[in-house]
Amino acid sequence: MGGLPVSDELAIRSHRGQYTARFGTVDEWSLTGDGGEVHRYLVDANVARLHADRLAQILHLPATVILEATEENKSLDRIIPVIECLVDAATRRDDVLVAVGGGIVQDITCFIASTLLRGLRWRFIPTTLLAQADSCIGSKSSINLGATKNILGTFNPPEEILIDPSFLETLGPADLRSGIGEIIKVHVIDGPSSFAALAADFPRLMDDPGLLLEYIRSSLLIKKRFIEEDEFDRGPRNVMNYGHSFGHAIESATAFEIPHGIAVTIGMDMANHVAHARGDLHRGYRDAVHQVCEANYRGFLGVPIPEEALFDALSRDKKNVGSSANLILPTGPNASMAKVGVVIDDEFREQCRSFLVGLGR
Ligand SMILES: NC(=O)c1ccc[n+]([C@@H]2O[C@H](COP(=O)([O-])OP(=O)(O)OC[C@H]3O[C@@H](n4cnc5c(N)ncnc54)[C@H](O)[C@@H]3O)[C@@H](O)[C@H]2O)c1
Repeated sequence: MGGLPVSDELAIRSHRGQYTARFGTVDEWSLTGDGGEVHRYLVDANVARLHADRLAQILHLPATVILEATEENKSLDRIIPVIECLVDAATRRDDVLVAVGGGIVQDITCFIASTLLRGLRWRFIPTTLLAQADSCIGSKSSINLGATKNILGTFNPPEEILIDPSFLETLGPADLRSGIGEIIKVHVIDGPSSFAALAADFPRLMDDPGLLLEYIRSSLLIKKRFIEEDEFDRGPRNVMNYGHSFGHAIESATAFEIPHGIAVTIGMDMANHVAHARGDLHRGYRDAVHQVCEANYRGFLGVPIPEEALFDALSRDKKNVGSSANLILPTGPNASMAKVGVVIDDEFREQCRSFLVGLGR
């Protein structure tokens, strides 16, 4: 990435002890294992194809599993053949699983590492912006059950993460925007001044790898604060779900046609719309965040979001309590994030509907 000094690291405290996210390049990492360790690689098929030369030493290993990164494959049924491959390759308890890919390969690897042989160590080389700026830290694995997104999961941090920003050079614009969605999210959560700085830089983010790297770092630093305080998502970390109840519902309602981070971007905008309609958020801030969110999801406005499927998915969200949706909404003069129980009634449906209509649907 333009000769940028990328070698440094970030340490994260977890229930398993400390783990490290290191910035560097795969070329300087020992991919085949040190000290007799056996690495079992699970590699995103597109990454294996696009980065075949750099990853040659692991792609030639007989036990390496190549995975198509689709939401359908991130499901209980579809991970069984992956587990069978690892069992057939005589994976042992002291072997290390290594995920090379985005959030999907991460979730699959982390979930398998939580359960296979009652727990294996795992490491992660994130190759998407979303995974580098957000999902690589925080310990979560999530697996889908049918159309219900991320309903199965565990908390199982990797031992180590290697962030090599040069992987992003082959990422398509939709996946870049998806990662930018999560970057917007943490900066809005961090507060109006963080958001204002991001909003000023937003127009250059897609085309300036150095700037993007700065935002990868700042996003991880913001997230680190929340996950170290509340790794198991019982309290303060809940705010990281801002945009996610709507986002997951949008993903389900569109059969995953809208990438995760884009759905979250629409979800944040929708959450702000609802917060304003409830009298909890002032118009100026709602509009300022809308401008950035809309610029990020504009390319997906043509994908229809069926209303009933959206409400159905919202009512099945795992964060709900009783008949209320537990939403994270910005509230008050500082747009502080708060968990709000919202009954899914006619008034709420109308607020959601008016948002969708405002998008030109
Ligand atoms: N566990 C967590 O904490 C967590 C957090 C956020 C999101 N997620 C999950 O992550 C998933 C989304 O992950 P994602 O956005 O990282 O993408 P992804 O894993 O879905 O990959 C998106 C696309 O990018 C391709 N790809 C990956 N790296 C590439 C590269 N370097 N060059 C070219 N193409 C590349 C993949 O093959 C795929 O086609 C969702 O399932 C979401 O639920 C998990």
